Amino acid sequence: MAAQIYPSILSADFARLAEEAKAVEGADWLHVDVMDNHFVPNLTLGMPIVESLSRATDIPLDLHLMIEDPDRWAPQYVEAGAGSVTFHAEAAAAPVRLAREIRAKGARASMALKPATPIEQYEDILPELDMLLIMTVEPGFGGQPFLDIMLPKIRRTRELIAKHGLELWLQVDGGVSASTIERCAEAGADVFVAGSAVYGAVEPAAAVRTLREQAGAAIAAAPWACDH
Ligand code: DX5
Ligand code: ZN
Repeated sequence: MAAQIYPSILSADFARLAEEAKAVEGADWLHVDVMDNHFVPNLTLGMPIVESLSRATDIPLDLHLMIEDPDRWAPQYVEAGAGSVTFHAEAAAAPVRLAREIRAKGARASMALKPATPIEQYEDILPELDMLLIMTVEPGFGGQPFLDIMLPKIRRTRELIAKHGLELWLQVDGGVSASTIERCAEAGADVFVAGSAVYGAVEPAAAVRTLREQAGAAIAAAPWACDH
């Protein structure tokens, strides 16, 4: 699988979202962080802004729901224009039912794990998902330092994907930058969210290209990708 870069609009200017989407032309997906001030101690945006943004850009939207009760809200984000919806394992009451509902509505279904949530207990439900998100910071804010202690979890998840022969994308989010992306790729990630590393750059679209090249080279050299 080729490396994919998802700029996170959490680090963009919220008053100019359409232009900020244009500024990362060439990005694979646009990562949209929805926070409810309950699941995480921060508040961002909701349904109406997602609807407007999906009309304002051709880049598909990857919704990262850091909210309580995703069972209730996640399917509605598909209707609002999301191409992929990620709910948190810690917040979902019925993750299998929810993933099936998201897929039935026509979007990719994805589940996220906070740093202290192990992957092992979810091995059996991985076939229900199109992507798994391993948080490499505590969710809630952009610009936090990357947690190297998450690398073993990325590695173990990649092993589970291989063991079951799954087409599951493995996403990392938090502190991903030119200095950490190769470690993530080497460990097994193939989808990379980057907020401050993209929108903090002078030329965001160029930053996306550079990150993709770095990750692509690291994946090509990684043992986990050698038979692909
Ligand atoms: C954090 C969000 C991230 C955030 C990443 O809770 O889920 O998507 O935007 O920002 P950086 O890349 O700056 O760590
Ligand atoms: Zn995110």
